[in-house]
Amino acid sequence: MDQNEIIEKTAEYIRREFQNDSSGHDWWHIHRVWKNALAICGHEKADLFVVQLAALLHDLDDWKFNPDGDETPVRAKAWLEQAGVDPEVSRHVCGIIMHLSFKGAEVKNKIDTMEGMIVQDADRLDAIGAVGVGRAFAYGGYKGRMMYDPESPPQLHGSFEQYRKSQSATINHFHEKLLLLKDRMNTVTARRIAAKRHDFMIEFLDQFMREWDGRDL
Ligand code: ADP
Ligand code: NI
Repeated sequence: MDQNEIIEKTAEYIRREFQNDSSGHDWWHIHRVWKNALAICGHEKADLFVVQLAALLHDLDDWKFNPDGDETPVRAKAWLEQAGVDPEVSRHVCGIIMHLSFKGAEVKNKIDTMEGMIVQDADRLDAIGAVGVGRAFAYGGYKGRMMYDPESPPQLHGSFEQYRKSQSATINHFHEKLLLLKDRMNTVTARRIAAKRHDFMIEFLDQFMREWDGRDL
């Protein structure tokens, strides 16, 4: 298979795997991340094949959906191998996938290649703005979390273990992760897009709290 065919087959495979998701990690999330990544690539020098494979496969082995919280990219690696992808490329893609996820406000980011930075930015752009608001509540509902709990303040998690175990209400997640993302974008392009999406979340939270407190009555 040539590179275009591999990308096409990978997209078909992922679309099948993610078709029934209702946690905000459905096929259209992957599709948006793929498109976001290509848009960022328009402004950065990067290997498009690696970027696209990592974007398409990035949530296949996500710790949030594995009972033991592990995210060694076992399934992504197997897929790349059977597709005949060069082992060196496969190692790069799997390395990106493993270090992509947000692991807590105070936990250091381990992404170190331009391709990884682009895919991480593309994924993070889909966690903020109007789509980000929608996805956060979809995920909270999927996990059985409260929408907001005024008696439990947000926490900035110092370790992945604490972040992983958190049962925080969805509004807390904005303070624990989503509002931090605009300053943690790796590329200038993503930083620019993130600024507007960030402002929208601030406006949303402001209105949410006005209604919650009855300040608009
Ligand atoms: P990451 O790998 O960085 O976590 P994902 O593509 O897996 O990125 O998407 C994570 C999304 O899942 C978040 O942006 C948010 O919408 C949702 N999410 C994760 N944890 C929570 C939570 N505790 N409360 C609400 N939403 C959450
Ligand atoms: Ni994702």
